[in-house]
This record gives sequence, structure tokens and C-alpha cells, in this order.
Amino acid sequence: MSAADRMKIQAVSGSLRANSTNSALVRAAGECADAEVDFAVFEGLDTLRHYSPELDRADVLPASVLEWRKQLASADGVLICTPEYAFGMPGSLKNALDWVVSSGELWRKPVAALSASPSALGGEKAHAALLLTLTALEAQTVEEASLTIAFSRSKVTPEGSVEDEATLAALKNSLDALVSAARLKNPI
Ligand SMILES: Cc1cc2nc3c(=O)[nH]c(=O)nc-3n(C[C@H](O)[C@H](O)[C@H](O)COP(=O)(O)O)c2cc1C
Repeated sequence: MSAADRMKIQAVSGSLRANSTNSALVRAAGECADAEVDFAVFEGLDTLRHYSPELDRADVLPASVLEWRKQLASADGVLICTPEYAFGMPGSLKNALDWVVSSGELWRKPVAALSASPSALGGEKAHAALLLTLTALEAQTVEEASLTIAFSRSKVTPEGSVEDEATLAALKNSLDALVSAARLKNPI
């Protein structure tokens, strides 16, 4: 398989918490990836400055923002898994997405939008907020790859792994749908 055949999926968890269920679900999605997929997780959400148009200029752009944009630009598809905070997505994730409004790394990029919550609703309001922001960014949200995960705490072990078969199948399905959408954009 040549380097050109490989697919890069850039993933990000919207939670900064050390034992985050969202981060565990992102890791589990990566473990489902087929051999031709390079699955990378962006770990720097908390290094991104609060967005300001005054910092959004080449001469003052923070290095962490440059790195975030670079990782997204080099990806064929992006997987985002968000918790729900006060009926929305966490500010740190919204901030990261605000940083790519002007630069356009998510423009027409296939994106899988996932949310997870310990409640029965699976963070559906955060999911809706994420989808709305992705619409503003003109990302290509892949419907078949999008997922809300309810009762998330019961799906992740205390050690941070996902062993629930149905959740693993849903994550694999999501990742496969995302990779297929990315492949359609970049056929082998
Ligand atoms: C500040 C805050 C606000 C929250 N608001 C909601 C909410 O609106 N809806 C919800 O389902 N859960 C809410 N939760 C619970 C989170 O869904 C829960 O803590 C979840 O485990 C966070 O994801 P993580 O495990 O990936 O950190 C909130 C938690 C915090 C800390």
C-alpha cells in the first residue's frame, strides 16, 4: 500500500478531563481503525488561546493554533466526540472550532460528529450545537458517521477502555462511514 492510499483521520475529544469518557470513546474508535487508516488524536485543546480576531494574524498567530490548523489540514476526515456542558459543547471545543472559521481547514472536510453523556439523551443538545457550528464552518458532516452515546459512564471501564460490544460496533460503523466519505473525496 503506497502512502497515497492511506487515510488520515484526525480525532479530538471535547473533554479535558483526565478520565474522560469522551476521550476513551475516541481512543476506542481509533482502535477500530483498519490498517490503511492513520488515526491521530489532537491533545492540545487546552493549549489554544481564547480566540480573538486580533491574534488571528500571521505575525502573532499562536504556535498551538498553527499546529491545530496543520493537523486538520493534513486530515482526510475529522472525528469529534463532545461531552455536553450546560446544554452545549464545552467552551474549549467551541474555541478550537472558532480558530478555524477564518482559515477554513474544515471547509468541505468530512466530519463525524459524536457526543457522549451519562444521561439517557447522550448529549443530544451538545450534538446539535456541534452540528450547527459545523454547518457554519461548511464542513461536510457525515450523517451515517454521527452518533450520540447515552449512559456513557457505563460504556467505559474505570481503566478507560470500552468493552461494550454495541458501543464498539457503533464506533466502528461511525469510523468506517467517515473513512468511506473521505475516500469518495480522495479516490485511490
Ligand atoms: C460543567 C458541567 C456541565 C454539565 N452539563 C451537562 C449537560 O448539560 N448535559 C449532560 O448530559 N451532562 C452534563 N454534564 C455531565 C457530563 O456529561 C459528564 O460529566 C461527562 O462525563 C463529561 O464527559 P467526560 O467524561 O468526557 O469528561 C455536565 C458536567 C459538567 C462538569
